[in-house]
Amino acid sequence: MQILDGKTTSEEIKIELKEAVEQRKIAGKKTPHLVAVLVGNDGGSLTYVGAKVRACKEIGFNSTLMHLEDSISENELLDVVEKLNNDDEIDGFIVQLPLPKHIDEKKITLAINPMKDVDGFHPTNLGNMVLNLPGFLPATPAGMMEMLKRYNIETSGKHCVVIGRSHIVGSPMSILMARNTNPGNCTVTLAHSRTQDLKSLTLQADIIVSAIGLPGFLTADMVKDGAVVLDVGITRVADETKKNGYRITGDVDFESVAPKTSYITPVPGGVGPMTIVSLMMNTLRAMELNGK
Ligand code: GUN
Repeated sequence: MQILDGKTTSEEIKIELKEAVEQRKIAGKKTPHLVAVLVGNDGGSLTYVGAKVRACKEIGFNSTLMHLEDSISENELLDVVEKLNNDDEIDGFIVQLPLPKHIDEKKITLAINPMKDVDGFHPTNLGNMVLNLPGFLPATPAGMMEMLKRYNIETSGKHCVVIGRSHIVGSPMSILMARNTNPGNCTVTLAHSRTQDLKSLTLQADIIVSAIGLPGFLTADMVKDGAVVLDVGITRVADETKKNGYRITGDVDFESVAPKTSYITPVPGGVGPMTIVSLMMNTLRAMELNGK
């Protein structure tokens, strides 16, 4: 069993990105500038957005956190998006999800200029992904693909079971793993809440991607010997022994599953850090796609 170390891999990528920023400077090109829009004070979102902005600073990107009151109206948020769309200084931006209930996430996502949509959530980018055309890939699936690539994990012809069909992780991951690319070329099963006899499917899987947000859901009896397991879960579970009162727990019962696997991502330190560097990679890509 080998740990897929997202922390170390992401640090390596950060060094590469930092070098790319320096090379851009030498060539007299613009420093990438990412804006993260956060509405309200959701604990998880505050943590993730903070990590994204910090990672930008580390690699020499400009970054701005726009922290807006959760009382902001949908129209006011649409105005913010429009301003960012039209601001030449801003190369890419994200609107952190979830948004407050009174704001329609679809409307906001559709309003983002696809050329600045470094989250890859706009239908134009999702369509480009399906067609294997240039665009932005959603950060979490892209981070997992990068991890598979850097660890030279063979995926061609393998059976990949993705658990969870969210728009931002499960569905795009199922598409990326099935594409005619490397990594990719898998036979993919996309399992979800209506799937019957999930265990019979996961037991056939060479690669399992679990993205449902249920702590400890995937247990050893569901995993074939030698499988590759990627754990996207990041659920906060109360833990009085921790200073902040919680610990982050994955979908996979790591203790029992890990010994059966060939490769497995830990939580924390697996998929999470890869998601953050994917966003940075997308922002650098925005410079290229936009000819800057
Ligand atoms: N909420 C959970 N994951 C993400 C993400 O990757 N991007 C945004 N914008 N919101 C999220």
